[in-house]
Amino acid sequence: MRAQLARDFERFGRSLPRNFASHVRETYHLDLSAHYLGATLPHPIGKGSGQLSLNAKQLEEDAEAGLAFAVLKTVIAQDDAGDQSMAAWAIHETKMKVEQRRAASGADGWTVTWKGRGWDRSFDDYLALVRAGRDLTRAGRLLVVPSVKYHLPKLNEPFRDGEYRFTTQSLAAAWGDGPLHLEKDFSPTLAGDPLAADRAQVLRWLREVPERIRRHAPVRLGVKLMNARFDDDFQLEMLQAAGTADTLVVFNRLFDEDLGVAYGGWDLSDRNLRVLDRAPSRGGVATPGSRPGLVMPELCGTGNIQSGRILIEYARRGCSAVQLHTFFQLPLSEYPATHGSRTQRALHKLIFDPADGLVACLLELEDQGTLERRGGELRFLDLVPDAHRPR
Ligand SMILES: Cc1cc2nc3c(=O)[nH]c(=O)nc-3n(C[C@H](O)[C@H](O)[C@H](O)COP(=O)(O)O)c2cc1C
Repeated sequence: MRAQLARDFERFGRSLPRNFASHVRETYHLDLSAHYLGATLPHPIGKGSGQLSLNAKQLEEDAEAGLAFAVLKTVIAQDDAGDQSMAAWAIHETKMKVEQRRAASGADGWTVTWKGRGWDRSFDDYLALVRAGRDLTRAGRLLVVPSVKYHLPKLNEPFRDGEYRFTTQSLAAAWGDGPLHLEKDFSPTLAGDPLAADRAQVLRWLREVPERIRRHAPVRLGVKLMNARFDDDFQLEMLQAAGTADTLVVFNRLFDEDLGVAYGGWDLSDRNLRVLDRAPSRGGVATPGSRPGLVMPELCGTGNIQSGRILIEYARRGCSAVQLHTFFQLPLSEYPATHGSRTQRALHKLIFDPADGLVACLLELEDQGTLERRGGELRFLDLVPDAHRPR
């Protein structure tokens, strides 16, 4: 199998087959199936919301590459008069810098430095993109998920229901029949905003926002949690407060207060994995006042995933899928593949790298006796605690 993997790595670097997950199943008897927002995916790798899902051409290219899902750039909610309480997030900024960043541990990783925020074109343009995503989703080519930043009030203020209603209903109408999958973004720039300096205020948002959205349309809701400026215990409190979402995306980038920018790299994955180690799905609730018997929603990992090896670290801590951004943006010289789109080249390394790819790492876990074949197959989801429990 190792020799076969070396051959696949070599030839798929020139051309990655779109249905590589079927190839992996037939050749290595590895079932890479995963799930996100309750939907079954052929493998666990998707694209996080951001600058890589701004138009239909990017989505088409990702569908062609065989990506499992793509989350659209976050749109800022508005009411029927076009008013946006979070308008400060809809700023236009095109320049991104992909650069190395050294983590506290001394490890060098990649980060994207960018001062921009949410979707900066019209809401109608966003709805047109949602319809393009709907068509790809219906055709079974790529699960596409819109993302929204809705109004977040101060503790003594009411939610602006008009924004929740208009935005959610418009997205649901653009989607038409079938469940709308939706992410609610709590972003790192929000973590850096005075609005998020009050713990009780943040916890109230997380407790109330899922129901505020759902009252306007039937949605499968993912809540993408930020890394707040507080300690690990507070991250765990946030996980529990947002427990009524269908999925929690854990956790968006860190915020550098000195530079005033969000960042990733090893500091991000170190923190995320450390917190997930203590999450209830791992059987160890460690926060004061935690609810016994709480069943965590499905988890989707994000943060510094640039190899199958790190992907597996997230999976073993409860993530049944992952969403990446930075790894799809590296200089071409960083990918071993010689041909294909960035998405194809990234998938090629993530799945087939003979040392750190998903296939190699799953075979390694089998060798170590950590993962066992069932019915002759090794299954990615067998790594994920609680993945098979109905919710
Ligand atoms: C340039 C850039 C823009 C982003 N924009 C958004 C966004 O609009 N909404 C959102 O939820 N996440 C956004 N993200 C976060 C990513 O989706 C992802 O969760 C995060 O960067 C961690 O993954 P990574 O380490 O693979 O980049 C953005 C990230 C980058 C680098």
